[in-house]
Amino acid sequence: MDLCTVDHPLVAHKLTTLRDERTDSPTFRRLTEELVTLLAYEATREIRVTPHQVTTPVGPAVGVRLAPPRPLVVPILRAGLGMLEGMTRLMPTAEVGFVGMVRNEETLEPSTYAERLPDDLSGRQCYVLDPMLATGGTLAAAVRFLVDRGADHITCICLLAAPEGIAKLQRLLDDLEVPCTLVTAAVDERLNERGYIVPGLGDAGDRLYG
Ligand code: PRP
Repeated sequence: MDLCTVDHPLVAHKLTTLRDERTDSPTFRRLTEELVTLLAYEATREIRVTPHQVTTPVGPAVGVRLAPPRPLVVPILRAGLGMLEGMTRLMPTAEVGFVGMVRNEETLEPSTYAERLPDDLSGRQCYVLDPMLATGGTLAAAVRFLVDRGADHITCICLLAAPEGIAKLQRLLDDLEVPCTLVTAAVDERLNERGYIVPGLGDAGDRLYG
């Protein structure tokens, strides 16, 4: 798995405000969207394009456009929904699939309560959105859903990741032998005893929608 920690002063600035416990929900939602758009710039570096010719007012120009099939964007509900708009703004033609998962706060194991994905993902470039990679259980389960449907090009976009979650995702992807890139704004220190990222930003779902 390739890990890309986006090192950019604007990303760091927005992430710092997200972390601040005084940041209210409307500001948190707006900053999440803005951050995702910045991360998406890096995350889509390998997106497939095909040559495309247009005519400018001055003459012909050869450029590119996104190659079919359409990319798939998968927000993991609930908190991943806060990242969707920031991503689709950059890729308005993307298809959107949904996975709903919630982590049991005692066992820290994820359970799936909703899943709406295309049946066949072979040849599709998939972008999974979840603000927090903590123990990694949620993202690993979501990646497994995609691989079970034939996905072989997966990019995960997180606002924050913990070393424990990165290691778990890495082990899964080594087993599955599927290439994957993880793009994040920062890798934090560790998890605490409740499975929260430290220093983190708290519960992203609650801060977005609570
Ligand atoms: C949070 C977060 C991730 C997950 C990360 O969601 O948004 O999906 O926990 O934890 P993990 O890496 O240890 O699996 P939560 O289960 O709180 O659901 P929510 O998005 O509905 O708030």
